[in-house]
Amino acid sequence: MSASVLVAYATRSGSTQEVAEAVAATLRDAGLEVDIQPMRTVGDLKDNSAVVLGAPLYMFHWHKDARGFLGRHRQALAERPTAVFALGPFHDTEKEWQEVRGQLDKELAKFPWFAPVAVEVFGGKFDPAKLGFPWKLNPAMKKIPATDIRDWAAISAWAKDLVARLHPSQS
Ligand SMILES: Cc1cc2nc3c(=O)[nH]c(=O)nc-3n(C[C@H](O)[C@H](O)[C@H](O)COP(=O)(O)O)c2cc1C
Repeated sequence: MSASVLVAYATRSGSTQEVAEAVAATLRDAGLEVDIQPMRTVGDLKDNSAVVLGAPLYMFHWHKDARGFLGRHRQALAERPTAVFALGPFHDTEKEWQEVRGQLDKELAKFPWFAPVAVEVFGGKFDPAKLGFPWKLNPAMKKIPATDIRDWAAISAWAKDLVARLHPSQS
């Protein structure tokens, strides 16, 4: 097994991909070898010694590619340190952070064998102009103002903290 860390992401509108790229850049800066790929294009994990999975929440569920990835790679993930992040809240209120963390925990609980070394929720990005079908037909959703509460300093700090968890020899 090589020392490469796989950062695998799912996205609809691109904001999670940008966070995955920032996580990958921080891990590289720390000296790790990193591959970054959309989850749905990952064949196997044989060249990866550790994994970071990032996907947004939509309608109370973690992106279906993330759920599919856990199902497909169960055995390989059980043998590798794996960290998880989700994007979700786009209002910076304690209530929303707690609700979204609850949504993610509920989704992960569907995979009782899965024991990630770190789980984090990051703020998301919302742009009513980019709503896909069927949400673009919903007038109430189209009225929600655009927002982006991704905290790049927090994302970078989380990724730095992962180095020791994913590769204890690098700490
Ligand atoms: C139609 C819609 C439904 C959403 N549902 C949820 C949700 O249930 N929980 C949540 O935390 N965030 C929800 N979000 C926020 C997204 O997770 C957030 O916008 C995220 O940044 C999108 O990631 P992406 O750009 O990678 O697709 C929703 C966003 C949209 C547009």
